[in-house]
Amino acid sequence: MPLVFVSGALLGGVVERLRESFDVVQDDEGVASEAFARAAGDVEAVLSLVTDRIDGALLARAPRLRIVANVAVGYDNVDVAACAARGIHVTNTPDVLTEATADVAFGLLLAAARRIAEGDRLVRNGGFERWSPTFMLGAAVHGATLGIVGMGRIGRAVARRARGFGMHVLYTQRSRLPEPLERALGCTYVASLDELLAWADAVSIHCPLNADTRHLFDAERLGRMKRGAVLVNTARGPIVDEAALAHALEHGPLFAAGLDVYEDEPRVHPALLARENVVLAPHVGSAEPATRAAMARVAAENVLRVLAGEAPLTPVR
Ligand code: GLV
Repeated sequence: MPLVFVSGALLGGVVERLRESFDVVQDDEGVASEAFARAAGDVEAVLSLVTDRIDGALLARAPRLRIVANVAVGYDNVDVAACAARGIHVTNTPDVLTEATADVAFGLLLAAARRIAEGDRLVRNGGFERWSPTFMLGAAVHGATLGIVGMGRIGRAVARRARGFGMHVLYTQRSRLPEPLERALGCTYVASLDELLAWADAVSIHCPLNADTRHLFDAERLGRMKRGAVLVNTARGPIVDEAALAHALEHGPLFAAGLDVYEDEPRVHPALLARENVVLAPHVGSAEPATRAAMARVAAENVLRVLAGEAPLTPVR
């Protein structure tokens, strides 16, 4: 039976399903584990997590590998070109986590703009003395302009939520959406990120991490945001320069930020940890049971198909 390596404890009964057809090795330490090191020479499929680095060195140790099924929509942890060069399929888990991730993006926007997490800390620390007209004033969400960077599945799901909150929605990405879709989403295209930043009271990042988007939000870009703006990142940490973000949160122009992802997870820049005006979530965009089970099932289906000689369901390109 082909050998399949499963990183981490996946939901959805997929390990049991895979065991019906394959020898399965599973380890919470992922591809860095001793178990993977022992299995590498024979492994034909890997179900990997965002915490697993799948690079050329790993592929060289796994000559029989036929598919890397990443249990995530993002796949910046996988060297796709190196896989392609060896004829190894790479798949991700689009669609199934769209709504869950959009919920977290919107939650971070609300929590950061209206100071909900900061207020929670204050109440617990005994700092809530009385209601006052000037106490804990935040930034308005309703009626504000939201700029979405990357209008793919998750960006669109955030746009729908924003319309429900009476927000004006702008978006930017390389190509404009078809007009009927723009109309259905009630959003307006702006050709450049700088133009979007000039207008947006809040910005939510939904683009993939790649060479073009690494530190897309550097000191200069953050400095171009509107005074009092809020930045939300549920995509990938390295899209934002964390040191520059901490500076923009302390000295302006930003009012607040909400982050679910970090440059060097699980480490968070100490300058961010020290600030009250940033909400820090521990990469929980897709963290609800039905979503996580669906992600695992999509990854397993890709493995079953490829090892049966069929085309994968969700190839990355
Ligand atoms: C999670 O970060 C994902 O890309 O699915």
